[in-house]
Amino acid sequence: MSVIFPKWTNLLPTIGAIGGLALSCGVIGGFWYYATPKFWRVGYMPKQPGGGFNHQIHAGKLGMDCRYCHTHIEESPEANVPNVATCYGCHQAGSLLLYDTSETHKNKTEFIREAYSKDASIEWRRIHKVPDYVRNFPHNVHLHAGVSCYSCHGRIDTMPVVYEHEPLSMSWCLNCHRASEKNLVPPDKVTNLAWVETQLKDRENGQAAAVNEGKRLVDTLKNAPPQNCGACHY
Ligand code: HEC
Ligand code: HEC
Ligand code: HEC
Ligand code: HEC
Ligand code: HEC
Repeated sequence: MSVIFPKWTNLLPTIGAIGGLALSCGVIGGFWYYATPKFWRVGYMPKQPGGGFNHQIHAGKLGMDCRYCHTHIEESPEANVPNVATCYGCHQAGSLLLYDTSETHKNKTEFIREAYSKDASIEWRRIHKVPDYVRNFPHNVHLHAGVSCYSCHGRIDTMPVVYEHEPLSMSWCLNCHRASEKNLVPPDKVTNLAWVETQLKDRENGQAAAVNEGKRLVDTLKNAPPQNCGACHY
């Protein structure tokens, strides 16, 4: 817990009242920052640039796989958000002929062509964020272990606007680390959110085949989700 009570706090008595006051302001400020619903609050849904990006259309209706855009997610701890070129590939003038004649569609996607022509990036506002005193959260490890996006982000493919579906609190992380049999799916199914939802709900309801599948995955994948503090904290 050296981050919360760093060594220099031992000097506080000698620094005296002013130092003490500064510290309490820092603590209150820190609490205010972390406790206010800026980040990681269930339901958190900031306003996005342009008209925003719609997962319900792209991942749901058009059936695009998450990895088409979140390309590095299986190799990297960090999940990446796609750059403008990924969007431009489909949304350049003349590409989506079916929609090009619709003024509404043209207007709604104009911000993509505008950003591309200026070589600018679209400043998507980040939604999910764990505090800095938690080590880099490893996406790649979880996906290879058979943990689906569904368990942590919900049915993104049905969301017109992404919102935080889970609390991302410490007890939430640990609840899963202690109960793999309730959460694991075959690693090649992690982005198939509809399949995963049915499977995990069946398991929760005690449906025999689904319960056995959970046990089978625990036996074959042999994961070891950590519960020691150092795994997640510096
Ligand atoms: C066509 C590209 C595309 C596809 C396909 C796509 N995404 Fe996204 N995703 C984005 C963009 C752009 C953003 C940033 C804008 C936003 O948050 O809505 C984003 C944001 C997110 C976020 C929130 C990131 C944050 O700021 O915390 C999550 C979670 C996410 N996507 C999960 C998924 C999942 C799960 C799938 C597959 C079911 C998926 N995405 C498919 C483009 C895509
Ligand atoms: C594989 C092709 C493809 C890619 C890549 C793609 N889109 Fe689309 N997008 C479409 C199609 C097709 C539609 C029209 C779907 C419909 O209306 O049914 C659409 C619709 C839209 C709309 C209009 C939504 C609405 O409410 O009508 C926006 C905005 C949009 N896309 C933004 C983006 C952004 C931002 C990206 C990059 C992160 C992106 N798209 C990547 C194919 C794509
Ligand atoms: C075990 C839980 C878990 C799983 C599984 C998971 N995520 Fe995440 N995701 C998180 C957490 C926690 C964060 C915040 C990470 C941080 O602050 O470093 C996050 C952040 C993100 C972000 C925002 C990254 C950024 O820098 O803006 C995107 C995009 C994302 N996830 C997409 C996905 C996609 C797509 C999948 C499935 C292929 C997925 N996630 C699977 C827990 C998960
Ligand atoms: C839905 C289930 C689930 C949730 C939620 C979850 N994890 Fe995990 N996590 C796992 C599993 C399963 C493993 C085991 C991976 C292995 O052994 O290969 C794991 C492994 C890890 C590891 C070890 C990585 C390594 O390199 O071995 C860390 C660190 C970790 N998780 C952090 C977190 C944090 C932080 C959160 C919350 C923000 C979280 N996890 C939420 C299922 C989950
Ligand atoms: C699986 C990952 C994981 C493990 C293991 C873990 N933590 Fe955490 N811890 C977190 C996350 C994520 C947060 C941030 C919670 C939030 O933002 O609400 C956190 C927050 C905290 C906080 C800040 C206060 C709070 O509750 O928000 C303390 C103190 C803490 N952890 C101590 C510990 C100690 C002591 C251990 C060992 C017994 C431990 N943690 C093990 C993930 C973990």
